[in-house]
Amino acid sequence: MLFATPKGVRACNNRCPHEGYPLSEGTLDSECRLTCNWHNWKFDLENGANLYGGDRLRTYPVTLRDDDVWVDVSDPPAAQRQAEALAHLRDAFADKEYDRIARDLVRLKQAGGALTDALAAAILWSHDRLEFGWTHAYAGAADWLALAEEAGTDSEGALVAVLEAMTHIAEDSLREPEFGYGEASLPYDEDAFLAAVEMQDEAGALARLRGGLDRGLGFADFEPALSRATLAHYTDFGHLLIYVVKCGRLIERLGRRVERPLLLALVRGLVYAAREDLIPEFRAYAKALASFGASPARPLDRGALSKAGIGPALDLVAAAGASPPLELYATLLGVNAQRLLNFDLAFDNRNDKPVADNASWLDVTHGITFANAVRLQCSKFPALWPAGLLQLACHAGRNLGFTDPKQDPARWQVSNADGFFETEIAALFDHGIEEEIVAVHRVKTLLAAREEWRSGAAGEDAPRLLAAVNRYLHEPIKGRHPRRTARQAMAFVAREG
Ligand code: FES
Repeated sequence: MLFATPKGVRACNNRCPHEGYPLSEGTLDSECRLTCNWHNWKFDLENGANLYGGDRLRTYPVTLRDDDVWVDVSDPPAAQRQAEALAHLRDAFADKEYDRIARDLVRLKQAGGALTDALAAAILWSHDRLEFGWTHAYAGAADWLALAEEAGTDSEGALVAVLEAMTHIAEDSLREPEFGYGEASLPYDEDAFLAAVEMQDEAGALARLRGGLDRGLGFADFEPALSRATLAHYTDFGHLLIYVVKCGRLIERLGRRVERPLLLALVRGLVYAAREDLIPEFRAYAKALASFGASPARPLDRGALSKAGIGPALDLVAAAGASPPLELYATLLGVNAQRLLNFDLAFDNRNDKPVADNASWLDVTHGITFANAVRLQCSKFPALWPAGLLQLACHAGRNLGFTDPKQDPARWQVSNADGFFETEIAALFDHGIEEEIVAVHRVKTLLAAREEWRSGAAGEDAPRLLAAVNRYLHEPIKGRHPRRTARQAMAFVAREG
């Protein structure tokens, strides 16, 4: 489109970069600024800069020869277009503008760039905005990336997957200031690193990590210590072990460019993670760990475990500790699946319960996603089996209190596992869920369940696992609890004296 401006003839794309309405219907002012009248976006026709709104406008160099106007519509070199697309993407990411992130991802692709470059960039832009380290956003990114690969690099599905991953990362780092990681570096020593994590010494742990990274060590070198550190306690209800697995997968897919930022954020998360084994509810954990497998194996009584709270569950698993770990694992996965299958919706819906009863679907799904991480990491580092299995017992025991045994499991039975996963994974690509945290739990749980089902690790409990995930995906979920939050706040403050 050509405009005769007070500064001369200017050329631009006629489609507004917002929603594509014709800029020929726009309003031009004396300063060479063009307003699209549909939603009032404004552009500087001299260079295409956006003055109000979001995306830049494509402009073209113009030359006048005699009475002719020559417009150069050739594309700049691919490298330049990719760099520009990434720069614009960064603006959209910084503001968490969902539609614009999508458009800039498409522009990056059109310029010959890779969607994985965008995701890697998002990790670099965000890792030092995470005050307490990893969140579900990075874990979800690993799963979305796997789904993007399955969908095909050039597919619409890959675009959806990267869009979802990036938007969640943008949400978790939105308007956060920079939380630097310091520069200190100390020779990497596994024991010293673990001691620093145990002491919740962030600077010390990061310095040891940085010392290793500076010497060229990579994720695989740190993985044993990271796994040990996460299972040294019943940590953040298992989140950190899940993050270790996802960290390795992200680095595998995105390369070493994301290794340092991901590991720095992961170690920070490890240092700050809550240690639930220190609270009264889980204090029996240490004793169970000390006695795990000490006496001849007593078969794990599945029926007893399914009715056991935390203490009895720990005792049962510790007494069975000399059994093959994968056998114990299958039983524990089955019981955790049963907790999900029997989750009492009242806990998600009622607003008259105390804080201690704030349980939701998301909490109970960790019995599956944590189990997946336990199997993977304990199979790699078998000395960790006792901790992994006992922590699964903690999950199962705790979640017993949030179940309703009257649920009808037959209603959720899955008769065709392949078809179930195919349908439900396809549905992820158009999930329609507003809250990122809710959406990402679907992705994580479904992929973890599929991995366990494919591995055969669930054994005879595989149907229960599928039924549980089926119910979780199709029952209502409450994303926000305004009345409950208000009531609990009033009750809490009233007791402050
Ligand atoms: S289409 Fe131009 S501002 Fe919305």
